[in-house]
Amino acid sequence: MKVLIVYKSYHHMNTEKIAQAMAEEIGADITSVENIGSYDAKSYDVIGFGSGIYAWQYHKALTNAIEGIDVIPGQKAFSFCTYGKKIDKFEKIMGELLKSKGFDVIGHFGREAFDTFGPLKLVGGINKGRPNEQDLEDAKKFIRDVVGS
Ligand SMILES: Cc1cc2nc3c(=O)[nH]c(=O)nc-3n(C[C@H](O)[C@H](O)[C@H](O)COP(=O)(O)O)c2cc1C
Repeated sequence: MKVLIVYKSYHHMNTEKIAQAMAEEIGADITSVENIGSYDAKSYDVIGFGSGIYAWQYHKALTNAIEGIDVIPGQKAFSFCTYGKKIDKFEKIMGELLKSKGFDVIGHFGREAFDTFGPLKLVGGINKGRPNEQDLEDAKKFIRDVVGS
């Protein structure tokens, strides 16, 4: 199974840690979204897309890249994200975007992660130390389950 993991991460590189754990677990190719053009997306059996959540949305660089991507109808995709506080919308909005592009959506992984945005900085942030070892183990289990290796 040929898998590509595409991510955007900048606040505390939380999403990058999740992306790297997933990629290492199954030997997937991995790229920050800025370099997606170096990869032939159509040649992958599965593509995973993830970013932090910023103002209740995935990073625009990630959603723009998905909108511009050339997909084989029915190609498999999954999403992942990290956030300060979970709301159900995170899975839904990305699922809808991927489906609108013709992807067959096979899963979603989300985790709380270190967040010092705005006033949270004044209290030292929330979710300190996350993603932690358990979060990374959960990410590895997730990708084994969805990709099946
Ligand atoms: C500008 C900004 C806006 C954010 N907005 C939200 C938000 O609306 N909801 C939320 O749960 N977390 C929010 N966060 C927290 C991030 O989603 C969280 O820290 C995430 O793990 C960052 O991922 P990254 O380190 O991969 O960039 C925000 C963080 C930043 C920097």
